[in-house]
Amino acid sequence: RTVYVNGQYLPETEATVSIFDRGFLMADGVYEVTSVLQGKLIDFDGHLARLERSLTELDMQKPDAFDDLVEIHRELVRVNQIDEGLVYLQVTRGSDGDRDFVFPDPETTKPTLVLFTQSKPGMADSPAAKKGNKIISIDDIRWGRRDIKTVQLLYPSMGKMMAKAAGCDDAWLVEDGHVTEGTSNNAYIVKGNKIITRGLSNDILHGITRAAVLRFAREAQMEVEERLFTIDEAKQADEAFTTSASAFVMPVVEIDGVVLGDGTPGKVARRLREIYLEESL
Ligand code: PDD
Repeated sequence: RTVYVNGQYLPETEATVSIFDRGFLMADGVYEVTSVLQGKLIDFDGHLARLERSLTELDMQKPDAFDDLVEIHRELVRVNQIDEGLVYLQVTRGSDGDRDFVFPDPETTKPTLVLFTQSKPGMADSPAAKKGNKIISIDDIRWGRRDIKTVQLLYPSMGKMMAKAAGCDDAWLVEDGHVTEGTSNNAYIVKGNKIITRGLSNDILHGITRAAVLRFAREAQMEVEERLFTIDEAKQADEAFTTSASAFVMPVVEIDGVVLGDGTPGKVARRLREIYLEESL
C-alpha cells in the first residue's frame, strides 16, 4: 500500500511519525473516514467541513496540505486501486520533541497529517447488512465533546469488545437512560413509519451519513423526529438501525437480547440503505 504522510507518498513500511507526536502520547488528534464506492469518494465535502470544525474546536492548525486534501484522497484511491473501501485521514498536533501537557508553540510545531486506504470489497452488498446487527447497551462514559472527531477511541473499542464477548456485533451508548449513539455510528429507531434519532449537540458526533440519510428520508416524504429516546423505547421499537461512513445504513435486529419485529432488517432501514447507496454515487 502507498500511504501519505506530511507531504509525501510512501510505501507503508517507509512512512514514519515521531514517537513524541501528541497524537501518539496524548490522543491529541482528529480524524475522518470517507468511504469509496466504485472508486469514488462519498460525501467528501461533508467530511472536509467537519475536519475543519474539529481542528478549530481544538485550536489545532490546519495542515499545510489542507487545500489539497481532495487530490490526496483521489491519488491514494488511484494508486492503491480502491474500488470499494475507505480513506482514513488523521491530523495530530505534532510535537516539539518533548512531552508536555501544554500545547507546543504553533509557530514552531506543525501538525502531522497521515492518510491511508483500506480496501473493503463487498462493502455495499454487505452480508452483515442483510442479517442486521445484534447490539448491547452500555454506559456512555466518554468525555463531553463527542461532537469533535478525536482519536480517543479506547472506550468505543472496549464497547465493541464487550459486544463481542456477549456474542453481539456492536454497542449503543446510554446516558441518563437515553441512547446517545453507537460506538462508531449514529443510532435510530423506527416507530410506525416515524424515524427517531437524537438531535445534534455536543453529546454526539454530527454524522455525515446521518445528515445525508435524514435529507433523503425527508425528500422521500418519510417522517423524521429528532429527539431523545430511551433504551427501553428502543427495545419496543418496530425497527432500529445505525449510520456511518463505514457501514452506511446498518439494520439493528436485537437490543440486549430483545428481538425487534421479526428479527430481520426492517423495511425502513432497508429502504434507506438502498436510497443512500443509490443517491450517494
Ligand atoms: N465513525 N458516531 C461516532 C461515535 C462515530 O465514530 C461515527 C463514525 C459516527 C458516524 O459518522 P459518519 O456518518 O460521519 O461516519 C457517529 C467512523 C466511521 C469510524 O470511526 O470508523
